[in-house]
Amino acid sequence: MAGLGTLELVAGALWAMLPAYVPNNAAVLAGGGRPIDGGRTLNGRRLLGDGKTWRGTAVGTAVGVVLALALDAVAPAAGDAVGFDLPGFPLAAAVGLAFGAMCGDVAASFLKRRTGRERGAAFPVLDQLDFVVGALALAALFAPAWFGATFSLARVAVVVVVTPLLHVGTNAVAYWLGLKDEPW
Ligand code: CTP
Ligand code: MG
Repeated sequence: MAGLGTLELVAGALWAMLPAYVPNNAAVLAGGGRPIDGGRTLNGRRLLGDGKTWRGTAVGTAVGVVLALALDAVAPAAGDAVGFDLPGFPLAAAVGLAFGAMCGDVAASFLKRRTGRERGAAFPVLDQLDFVVGALALAALFAPAWFGATFSLARVAVVVVVTPLLHVGTNAVAYWLGLKDEPW
């Protein structure tokens, strides 16, 4: 049935990416403290800016890893419940997805500062996909066999299309709740 096939594809893709979705949101809640760049500048502009902190990065990564391991524990039962297999998360995959998501976000801030954008300025497309690229890249690097078995081209395509929509939605909610300074 085409409908179930699509549901299975989208659900499997989003499930596999959950450990990469949560770190950025956890960082927003945990942020503050010392910036990673320590205030250093490059050509008169901050290397990363005050929006990338050690605490936000560490807490974001930790929350993503813990979520991945929790999902790994419930994957068989959740798969039974929905009627199709959902991927589990070996530790290397968990760390790759969570830390990769944070690294992608940090890399995006580096690019924003180099292009003259102040902290909090929007950089469409980069803002929505920086953490996807980082998460997939580090997951592929840390857990290549898991990555190959989990991320079919179809799942990657779903992730690239659906993630920006989820990202825009959750950031708008975080803004309305007063958790974030800008709605992106
Ligand atoms: N945050 C953090 N450490 C990170 C990522 C985020 O502490 N590695 C926290 C910061 O308090 C940051 C907030 O989460 O201000 C929102 O994250 P983000 O939108 O990524 O940062 P911005 O402040 O918008 O800065 P930038 O322009 O560099 O993206
Ligand atoms: Mg921002």
